[in-house]
Amino acid sequence: MTDLTHPAPSLSLAEAQAIARDFFGVEGGISPLASERDQNFRIIVHGESGFVLKIVNASEPQEQSDFQTALLDHLAQHAPGLSVPRLRRARDGQALAVVEAQGGPFRARMVEWQLGEPLAKAERTLETLGDLGRVLGDLDRAMQGFIHPGALRSFEWDIRTAGEARQRLGFVTDPEKRALLTRFLDRFDAKVAPRLPGLRAAVIHNDANDWNVLVDADGSGRVAGLIDFGDALHSLLIAEVAVACAYSILDLDDPIGAAAAIVAGFHGAYPLQEQEIDVLFDLIAMRLVISVTMSAQRHDKIADNPYLSVSEAPAWALLQRLDAINPVFATAILRQACGFDAAPGSRAAIGWIRAEAKGLHSVLSQHPARMRKGLVPYGDPANPMTVASATEEPEKATAWWDEHCAREGIDLGIGPWGEERTVYTSPMFESRLVAGTRRTRHLGLDLFLPAGTKLFTPLAASVKEVVIETEALGYGCLIKLEHAPEGCPPFVSLWGHLAHEAVGRLKPGDRLEAGDLVGEMGAPAENGGWAPHLHLQLSTATGLTATEILGVGEAPYLPVWAELFPDPADFAGVPPETFHQTGRSREAIVAERKRGLLPNLSISYEEPIKFVRGDGVWLIDDRGRAYLDCFNNVCHLGHAHPDVVEALARQAGILNTNTRYLHDNIVEYAERLTATLPDDLTVASFACTGSEANSLMLRMARTHTGRDEAIVLDWAYHGTTQALIDLSPYKYKRKGGEGRKAHVFEAAIPDSYRAPVDWPVAEIASRYAERVADEIAEMKRQGRAPGLFMAESIPSVAGQVFLPEGYLKEVYAMVRAAGGLCVADEVQVGFGRVGSHWWAFELQDVVPDIVTMGKPIGNGHPMAAVVTTKEVAASFNNGMEYFNTFGGNPVSCAVGLAVLDVIERDGLRANALAMGDYLLARFRKLQERHEIIGDVRGQGLFLGIELVTDRKTKAPATEFARAVNNGARRRGVLMGTEGPHDNVLKLRPPMIFAKADADLLMEVLEETFDEVAARQ
Ligand SMILES: Cc1ncc(COP(=O)(O)O)c(C=O)c1O
Repeated sequence: MTDLTHPAPSLSLAEAQAIARDFFGVEGGISPLASERDQNFRIIVHGESGFVLKIVNASEPQEQSDFQTALLDHLAQHAPGLSVPRLRRARDGQALAVVEAQGGPFRARMVEWQLGEPLAKAERTLETLGDLGRVLGDLDRAMQGFIHPGALRSFEWDIRTAGEARQRLGFVTDPEKRALLTRFLDRFDAKVAPRLPGLRAAVIHNDANDWNVLVDADGSGRVAGLIDFGDALHSLLIAEVAVACAYSILDLDDPIGAAAAIVAGFHGAYPLQEQEIDVLFDLIAMRLVISVTMSAQRHDKIADNPYLSVSEAPAWALLQRLDAINPVFATAILRQACGFDAAPGSRAAIGWIRAEAKGLHSVLSQHPARMRKGLVPYGDPANPMTVASATEEPEKATAWWDEHCAREGIDLGIGPWGEERTVYTSPMFESRLVAGTRRTRHLGLDLFLPAGTKLFTPLAASVKEVVIETEALGYGCLIKLEHAPEGCPPFVSLWGHLAHEAVGRLKPGDRLEAGDLVGEMGAPAENGGWAPHLHLQLSTATGLTATEILGVGEAPYLPVWAELFPDPADFAGVPPETFHQTGRSREAIVAERKRGLLPNLSISYEEPIKFVRGDGVWLIDDRGRAYLDCFNNVCHLGHAHPDVVEALARQAGILNTNTRYLHDNIVEYAERLTATLPDDLTVASFACTGSEANSLMLRMARTHTGRDEAIVLDWAYHGTTQALIDLSPYKYKRKGGEGRKAHVFEAAIPDSYRAPVDWPVAEIASRYAERVADEIAEMKRQGRAPGLFMAESIPSVAGQVFLPEGYLKEVYAMVRAAGGLCVADEVQVGFGRVGSHWWAFELQDVVPDIVTMGKPIGNGHPMAAVVTTKEVAASFNNGMEYFNTFGGNPVSCAVGLAVLDVIERDGLRANALAMGDYLLARFRKLQERHEIIGDVRGQGLFLGIELVTDRKTKAPATEFARAVNNGARRRGVLMGTEGPHDNVLKLRPPMIFAKADADLLMEVLEETFDEVAARQ
């Protein structure tokens, strides 16, 4: 090993010039160059860039000198494109010449002069630093296979033995500086050194300080090359990066950002491993520790070598800055710069939380998704609440907020993750990472509710810390929980600004199950002096203590914080729409509809809702409020069902065309659909809407029977074309209708609940069937006969009316006897909604001649179908083509198949039946408490609650029904009212409706009935 105390050679210029000439055949102008332990000269040769002559310290072992030679030879061969020293051999072919001089003999080596200027004199932009990393990566990749006995040396600059710097602590006289070094040394010994033997080792340059790095002199900032391989040795690969960083980041405002540029450049050229990056921050610091302790030691020994203290003061300053930076944060920045997770497993944890969000327990007693939310104005520095909070006037801030909530109808205040805030004014928010900047980005999610609001853990957890922060505008009571759900890397949740009651109740080590109480929102006296709220934060770095977790972070590092302290919105069940509104406002849409759309288009609710997303049983509005959808029977399997979406997108990406070309989907779908129907119904045809299906049915019936006459049920609705409006009493009898046409005959709604009281119960079906017989008789009187009888299998707009048992059997028999066809309109009630059967007509044990289908058939995709018998199909085939541009296209059929698959695969008919039975039982219980509920009826998930002001007279309670409907909407549940008197609550939830959904519906119904009843 070179003895550093051994004096450097001190040849005269004339001696050096003679060596260059005599041994290496080089003549030119000579000048001295700085060197720590050797003696270097520059020789400028006319017309060439020249050479460096190095007179090696006499104490350097031969093996070291040979190692240098072998290394430079290796690079010449394996990295010809890299600008590194190139050997000029002596006249005798040797790389080293042995020269005699005072203090000698010495070995002398000559290398070509490399162009460029030292990085020390250039601007250290991130681009240049990234380029430095790349050059070092290229170099070390080229050295991968190189080894030499001289490389295996012990050397105080070897970062693996950085711990030995402790022995030099005594040379550091300032006790504060000694304490600073001790902190790094202690960390190194405890946490870093034990990991080093597991890291990759290789021959490295080991001294890419800014005097050894050359940049292009043209100002481009590109790194031109590296000089001085005198410190090369076999050590940790990552030490190469650490050394480069230690020097290149000195004096910079954002040293970690600069180090990130270097390591990212290196990683791009020669991929690093996560465990290497995990020690980088400490190794950078340890390089500085070696440097400053060596300087201190040498000051002691050789007081006047200025080279030794070149980087000393900046090194101390950087050590002080690094000491203030949490290594986890620095490492997160370095990791992310290389494309790794900011903390091990952070992306997996974030992905898991997102994927499992729907199954997490609610953090509040009412789920935040269901609440009316508004953003707290902390993003606006001039807002009175922000000002009052920053000036520690929590009561004033609370009063402003409460008043705002009352005015805007807000139940839950939200302070978003990532928000730029000015409320954080104390010195503790000065950035430790980027000099001269402040931490301004909120890294938690705030939920504002009154003090005392109970907070529950969404996931099972173990309690890690329960602490009280006493500083003003601190957290007050703060709880750290750790979650380790199966299949997810462990992560932490932090609960700040709580009431102090938690301190006595929880202690580290306690286990909480999902849904268990964490704490209560604290009042200002306990919560750090804020308007009551929860600061909820996640950390994917589980090792951070509660107070280390950064509640507010630097804006430039938001992408790092997003992985280290991810947005807890999913964890807390706050939908993304809460934070960002897109498109037009509700008011603007209403105005534009009025201006540019048919005024007959109606809008639900006096205060219309703008939905922006559907998800299963939920519809989410433009402000992130989720409504339980108990009304929309089109999204049969739930909104945006993934299987249906996938089938639709897949087929749409392949082919969509009309039915004149052959395609598998249409025949496969026809097979699958008819297989759900009774044997005689074998011929399918496809359309796009229920109205189109019914219109096609009409043409079939007319062609088959030669008649126009139709018998329909009172208050029926069958579609929007003129021909169908004529068959829809619900339309032609009401405002704008033209009344009943002569070919249309109307039979009474077979409503058992409203059957005349003098009808014996057992005869209700026959009595209502007689009404149809009356119509047939009337037709006869007029010289007519029925072409068809059409009924919804459970009349819907008529008020969820369940046909009395045996009714259709009798009716079908008499219609058929009169030569008419029997048609079941299953547009609303089909596809297994009744649970026990695929089709609601099956409840009546009949087989129609034609069945029409729509709404749920495509789970929201516009499609419809008509299925009939061979005979009717044969008559319809009268020479006129049936062409429907879109009906039966490959995409629609793929969607139809997916819907059938899901119903079958997920047992949704059985679910509908079970949930329907459960709800009916609960409705009946509600009926016991509320006299106003006259009748409860349903089968599967087709349900009705009829409200009457008097159970005897059955006078419709229309107003009450409307009030319940509106009250449920206010509470976040969608239903409808139907029936000739609009007094029947109509419920048709999706087939995936779960018991929890049913319980929520009941909770809302019960509350709403109580509320409306109390108002009566
Ligand atoms: C029973 C019934 N039949 C037919 C239709 C018409 O279907 P569409 O609106 O798809 O044309 C409807 C629509 O509400 C309906 O309820």
